[in-house]
Amino acid sequence: MTFKTRVRCFRTGLVQLAEQYGAVFTFHMGRKKYVIVTGYEAVKEALVTQADDFGERGLTTSTKHTSNGKGIIFAGGESWKTMRRFALSTLRDFGMGRSTMEDRIIEEAQQLLEVFAQYQGKPFNPTISINSAVSNIICVLVFGQRFQYDDPQFLRLLQLVSENVRLGSSPMTQLYNAFPIPMFLVGDHHKAMKNGNEARSYFTKVYQQRKAEHDSNDVRSFIDRFIVRQNEEQDNPNTFFDDQNMVFSIGNLFGAGTETTSTTLRWGLLFMMKYPHIQEKVQAEIENVVGRERPPRADDRKRMPYVDAVVHEIQRFGNIVPANLLHETKVDTTFRGYHIPKGTPVIPLLTSVLFDKTQWQTPHEFNPGHFLDAEGQFVKRDAFMPFSAGRRVCVGESLAKMELFLFFTIFLQRFTFQPPPGVQPQDLDLSPNPGVTNSPKLYEFCAISR
Ligand code: HEM
Repeated sequence: MTFKTRVRCFRTGLVQLAEQYGAVFTFHMGRKKYVIVTGYEAVKEALVTQADDFGERGLTTSTKHTSNGKGIIFAGGESWKTMRRFALSTLRDFGMGRSTMEDRIIEEAQQLLEVFAQYQGKPFNPTISINSAVSNIICVLVFGQRFQYDDPQFLRLLQLVSENVRLGSSPMTQLYNAFPIPMFLVGDHHKAMKNGNEARSYFTKVYQQRKAEHDSNDVRSFIDRFIVRQNEEQDNPNTFFDDQNMVFSIGNLFGAGTETTSTTLRWGLLFMMKYPHIQEKVQAEIENVVGRERPPRADDRKRMPYVDAVVHEIQRFGNIVPANLLHETKVDTTFRGYHIPKGTPVIPLLTSVLFDKTQWQTPHEFNPGHFLDAEGQFVKRDAFMPFSAGRRVCVGESLAKMELFLFFTIFLQRFTFQPPPGVQPQDLDLSPNPGVTNSPKLYEFCAISR
């Protein structure tokens, strides 16, 4: 087996090791010892019951270099707490999970339908257009504006994010994290760093422009609000509202807000092509509850248990952040009888929760029944943890849920998705393209007008 194959099997391997060694075990990579936590019960115990002990972010050599401890995702301590709280309250105040945001998503989804329609049922690769539409939702929140799908600067930013998601867990980066000194010159981290710098220099330019034009009576975005806080705290020498936190937070929200949701939607459309009988049932429920005269709205979800179940199953089966982000123990702690010293990197393996055979009837099958009761009503499942849990739980969870439901139902109200001529549903490849997020392999589809 080559090193590349071994790395690709890393996460599956960890689940298999759990069967042999139990729900908690250690794993050595280079000189570092990682604690792996697997299965719903143990992951919940670590992230929720012992949230304070396991809530610190773990950093690898590469994420330490690329983040500088700034922003939200790879930050810690008071700076992280302040930035996370600020991001959550700003996103909420600008409509995350509210009707203004809903209107924005519906409008964006409709623009995307026009792109799909231009292909007149012929096969095309939807990756870039889906990425652009999803990204525009977070762009409105962060920058106060959306971009045209063919804007070269926008396309470049999207490319930088996608590339860094791939490089973040490439075999070369993993080797660099395990053996930083011998791998320093050859690791993929140089390219990732260069990409990050290029994106941040654009964010800095936008921020400086906004600062120059700042009008405290017209605060429309995360950036505007950050500038207000900077002005309020300009005499505080200990403020966390500095330029670096601003630029890294923008990068985190832009990156996390784009790649995850669009990857999930691409999985969703691939599953619909693979399982046309499920696609038909989704369309029938949309037809019954919403009809064709108006777009679906978030409020329709409670009358659409089957669609709701399918969207949840897309997230479970798509399993897009399989290894979670790295955590670290904040203090010396005891977990399930083991002593774990402060500062130990911990992997709370989400794939082992989303495929936990004690929690899901048919974990390795795409089965919307996982979220339906005997009467066909939607049921919440505790082991549904694609956004993780506890102190580090995803900041964008409610936004992502609204986006997934609306984009998905709006797509399927207007089109039926089919594989290109000559490709049978059973031939479609569901094996993932590994990266920090698990994405489907690039594919083409035919969007057939209904
Ligand atoms: C389907 C969509 C999404 C999925 C599956 C997802 C999943 C995750 C996961 C697994 C984590 C790591 C949690 C942990 O460390 O325990 C995370 C963190 C994060 N996500 Fe998301 N995410 C999604 C969408 C979004 C969106 C739309 C945004 C932007 C608003 C966002 C912003 C963040 C941020 C800022 C963090 C870091 C939180 C922290 O370290 O405190 N995510 N997400």
